[in-house]
Amino acid sequence: MCGIVGYIGSKDLGAVILVGLEKLEYRGYDSAGIAVIHNGRLVVKKRSGRIGDLYKLVNGMAFNGKAGIGHTRWATHGGVNDINAHPHVDCKSQIAVSHNGIIENFQELKLELEKSGHKFVSETDSEVIPHLIEEYYEGSLFDAVLKAVKRLQGSFALVILSSMEPDRIIGVKMGSPLIIGVGKDEMLLSSDQMPLLSHTKDVVVLNDGEICVLTQNSWSVYDFDGNPKQKYITKIDWTVDMAEKGEFSHFMLKEIFEQPEVLRRNLEYYIRGNEVTLLKDFNLRRLLLNKDRILIQASGTSMHAGLVGKYLLEKLARIQTDVDYSSEFRYREPVLGQNTLVIAISQSGETADTLAGVKLVKENGFEVLSIVNVKDSSIARESDYVLYINAGPEIGVASTKAYTAQILILFLLSLEVGLLRGFVSEEDFSRMRDELFELPGKINDVLCESGYVKEVATRFLDAKHFVFLGRGINYPTALEGALKLKEVSYVHATGYAAGEMKHGPLALVDKDLPVVFVNPKTSVYEKSLNNIEEVRARGGIIISVASSGDLKMEMLSDYVFKMPEVNELLTPLVSIIPLQLFAYNVAVGRGCDVDRPRNLAKSVTVE
Ligand code: M6R
Repeated sequence: MCGIVGYIGSKDLGAVILVGLEKLEYRGYDSAGIAVIHNGRLVVKKRSGRIGDLYKLVNGMAFNGKAGIGHTRWATHGGVNDINAHPHVDCKSQIAVSHNGIIENFQELKLELEKSGHKFVSETDSEVIPHLIEEYYEGSLFDAVLKAVKRLQGSFALVILSSMEPDRIIGVKMGSPLIIGVGKDEMLLSSDQMPLLSHTKDVVVLNDGEICVLTQNSWSVYDFDGNPKQKYITKIDWTVDMAEKGEFSHFMLKEIFEQPEVLRRNLEYYIRGNEVTLLKDFNLRRLLLNKDRILIQASGTSMHAGLVGKYLLEKLARIQTDVDYSSEFRYREPVLGQNTLVIAISQSGETADTLAGVKLVKENGFEVLSIVNVKDSSIARESDYVLYINAGPEIGVASTKAYTAQILILFLLSLEVGLLRGFVSEEDFSRMRDELFELPGKINDVLCESGYVKEVATRFLDAKHFVFLGRGINYPTALEGALKLKEVSYVHATGYAAGEMKHGPLALVDKDLPVVFVNPKTSVYEKSLNNIEEVRARGGIIISVASSGDLKMEMLSDYVFKMPEVNELLTPLVSIIPLQLFAYNVAVGRGCDVDRPRNLAKSVTVE
């Protein structure tokens, strides 16, 4: 995880790097630091805490050099303290490195470097890097970096600065993301697009095994043997205001409210008249039509979207679909074959386990389709085919708008394949298309009830545990509702298939346990009513998500979040909205840092 940034140009060095780090703070936020050139020397300022704390330390200092680097940390090796914060430096404080990733052979390198007289001060794996570069330095930073990176095992993106060559910064990519921002009289390096937006729209995305050298007016890319590589500039299509909170108090809330717009955007983009255009790539279309099994691999919320996808693909396209956590998939020799298509789902496109899953499939000689938000991200680039969810930047650590956008893409995919395979009639297709276009309005209706959700949330600020239950296509909604609550409010919550309650978890129910039932009108509605009765009979407190006008649910529940009636297959897109709002409001009420929950980071780029 961690975010790294580098800048070379004539703007206020400290300010540019600190603002850049703020934009990357969602990637890790336990400590932060900068290293800049000032009076021809390296000045390093770093400390544990948030970027706000680093601002205080830097205290508006003006630096007269042109180059600097920064880092925001999510600790892996070594505790959270000032010394372990990045950037790390060599013995003479002439080389500074910001590192994102893990150096797996750092112990062995450290021993070797200590024997040669290098002195280490931190407990991190990253500190070996500046020492290794120092060891190899013979008058050319670039040559020293080339030699050093060949010794590193693991995943790393590096931004390197040296007072010996203050007219350049060097970037290295192997496993973790790194992008060059090509500006006018300035160049930048960053883990993602966000810090670049206010400087330039022109970027060069680095691939694994590439090193770049940036000066104020030039950029060049090489392989690890020092051979020049031809690279092309691409344009960022996100804007600065897309990455701002605007009138909202938190990114999570802004992103929850953006959902109608994100869905509308995707519908207008992917549906043209009587056609879904997701499979306009002939090869992708052929690939999907020739498979009789789909295997979805993803992590966290994206995996929950995949579970909804299973219901959709099986129901509409009649393709057997299995869903796996990427962290399990990658280590268990999954059965792959010519008839199986693997789909990877990832908002960031950088999740290490999901990326490893993609690589595993490719190594076995099969193709991968990915469903991704961030353009040109590692998963997007490693995959044979990509469907973008067009959700715009998602900054809150808790994924909200990406989840519904992922489900929408899975719905459209299932619909198109179903149509092509003859399982969906033209008539059904037209009806569902109309229902899809009504969705943004229906989600807006639910968002209009946010005041009530807040009121209910306020009553549960002291609850210690929650159980979330759902059946059928809303079983994943229960899992996702529970995940949202626990990650932002630190309250224990478990999601379960409603029909499984009596096989064990029913023992948990007493008068203090809030049980959230997701039970809109669907084909398993009546079955869930029985499960609600079972909980009621044992005194549990019932909060439900139910279709508007459902008097039975109103009678059975202590609190009801109402949603408009929608086609059963679309219910997960609506039923999750009140649960996102509920999690948000419980977290705010409990004083939690909603956008940056403790111990988490937005992109999990380590195993
Ligand atoms: O970027 P990805 O979709 O691959 O991320 C996967 C998970 O890390 C992510 O969904 C995580 O579970 C979220 N914090 C959940 O809100």
